[in-house]
Amino acid sequence: MTFKRRTHTCGELREEHIGEEVVLNGWAAARRDLGGVIFIELRDRHGRTQVVFEPTFNAEAHKNGGDIRSEYVLSIEGKVRKRPEGTENPELPTGMIDVLVTRVVVLNKSETPPFPIEERVEAHEDLRLKRRYLDLRREPMRRNLETLHHMKRVIHEYMDANGFLEVETPILMKSTPEGARDFLSPSRLHPGKFYALPQSPQTYKQILMVAGVDRYYQIVKCFRDEDFRADRQPEFTQLDVEMSFVTQDDVMTIVEGLMARLFEKVWGKPLETPIPRLTYDEAMSRYGSDKPDLRFGLEMTTLNEVFANAEFRVFKEAIAKGGVVTGLLAPGCGDYTRNQLDVLTDFVKKLGAGGLIWIRVTEDGLEAPTMKFFTDEEKRALTEALGAKPGDLMLILSGDRNPTLTIMGALRKEMARRLALIKPDADPKLLWVYDFPLLEWDAQTQRHYAMHHPFTSPREEDLALLERDPGKARAQAYDLVLNGNEIAGGSIRIHDTTLQKAMFKALGIGEEEAQEKFGFLLDAFKYGAPPHGGVAFGFDRMAMIFTGSSSIRDVIPFPKTAAGVSLMDDAPSEVDPKQLRELHIRLRREAKDEKK
Ligand code: AMO
Repeated sequence: MTFKRRTHTCGELREEHIGEEVVLNGWAAARRDLGGVIFIELRDRHGRTQVVFEPTFNAEAHKNGGDIRSEYVLSIEGKVRKRPEGTENPELPTGMIDVLVTRVVVLNKSETPPFPIEERVEAHEDLRLKRRYLDLRREPMRRNLETLHHMKRVIHEYMDANGFLEVETPILMKSTPEGARDFLSPSRLHPGKFYALPQSPQTYKQILMVAGVDRYYQIVKCFRDEDFRADRQPEFTQLDVEMSFVTQDDVMTIVEGLMARLFEKVWGKPLETPIPRLTYDEAMSRYGSDKPDLRFGLEMTTLNEVFANAEFRVFKEAIAKGGVVTGLLAPGCGDYTRNQLDVLTDFVKKLGAGGLIWIRVTEDGLEAPTMKFFTDEEKRALTEALGAKPGDLMLILSGDRNPTLTIMGALRKEMARRLALIKPDADPKLLWVYDFPLLEWDAQTQRHYAMHHPFTSPREEDLALLERDPGKARAQAYDLVLNGNEIAGGSIRIHDTTLQKAMFKALGIGEEEAQEKFGFLLDAFKYGAPPHGGVAFGFDRMAMIFTGSSSIRDVIPFPKTAAGVSLMDDAPSEVDPKQLRELHIRLRREAKDEKK
């Protein structure tokens, strides 16, 4: 099939081209037939141009134009003209002109697409994923691909300008310690052995510091076999960074510079630096989350002091056990009905709270069934602590510290939703959360786990705690939070073998296990490991926010569903038994069949 190479893209023609003979290649988008004249919008990645088939201008082209259907691939030749007055489309960059067609070649036909290739599409997401190539033709998805590209360009430029070296690390590697389940790849040459796909290049980037790379970065695929959510995928991309001879502040400064650049170049918005910082404890007390959304206020208030001498049994017990009493003011919600309050109570109960104490603030004082348990002084101090006014509603939870604060954090977000406090055009809110606990206690297994990962350094001041009271030690770890999403996390690492051993001990990892799992890293550290630290950004999560998408799947060109399936190519799929034999693998059900 012969066709002429395009002279312009479908987004290029303007009034200055009027009178020119042009060739355009693209897909037939909208088509209208008006009184014998056929109008087609020809689309490619760069835009849309209206092309016109007029019987009086070119009868043959007009005849051929009649057979064209949606998504046919066309090459048209024609003449650019000014659109007749009143038919201009100022919303389209090419909207002042159209092209009168002299010749059309259908380069390919298309079946009727299962959903229209339009800006807004009501199609079920499964269908969009199955026909992803059609979905990617849609304007919002095309814009997202461009933003991803743009973000990567900005990142490469910034990292290069700041002396970072891009180094690749393996995809087939030894298991990493990020705490999720690994994806494994069996080895053909080594029966019974497996490679793990990287949950992150953590161990490699630390080894690169021993190698003297000094400043490393990589935009890299990571793989985690965990439960997927709106902001999680099994296969995702990190901007991974590691630096030698740095403190926490140095890493933060680099990150802040990059974020400012991304805000400016991608969003056209200035970012005020330094980015505000909250300790983990503050974030939990004030927002009930280690990734608080600061686009709205509704701060929580710890009320332990107000109720320090409380007779009310629930508060008294919580405080005596080292727990917390936390309050939230819901402004103007004093008129909530009993029914509405029951819904809020159910909401917190489902999350594990024993109950919710609610108090209506009226002109005549505080109203609630629990008020008989409060002294006048407590009522006064409570009203003052929450800054309550008549018409408001006070909500109180008490219990073990972190679980209670977390539930109140969820209620805070729920109230913000009910009060419509998050405006779609609200300014983005970025913050650091730092001073995380080093370890997390798991009641089920009765042992500590590393909150970040086992190579994270405790704060200098807390080194002694690692032996004495490990649960109290804080880490030199930090997360970057954007609009309530954790978009990056990092830490200063342990570079000292003795400290690393103490850390493994606190984690209940024996010497043998440590050697087996991380021996290669510990070995490397014997040869002059510099002090180092770093950070990794969830690139897709960041892109999700930068593009205003509600799902991470909208910024991953070929994502998996929540069930981990790629609907377009049907991965994961069964493989040829021969392949399995070569990999020394026998499926359990085959083994069963053989036994029968
Ligand atoms: P972490 O495990 O916190 O740290 O990961 C860094 C960032 O990656 C993003 N992220 C994800 N994004 C999409 N889908 C997932 N399943 C997923 N899991 C994580 C998050 C997170 O903040 N090696 C360390 C970093 C370091 O210490 O330098 C690490 O991987 O945005």
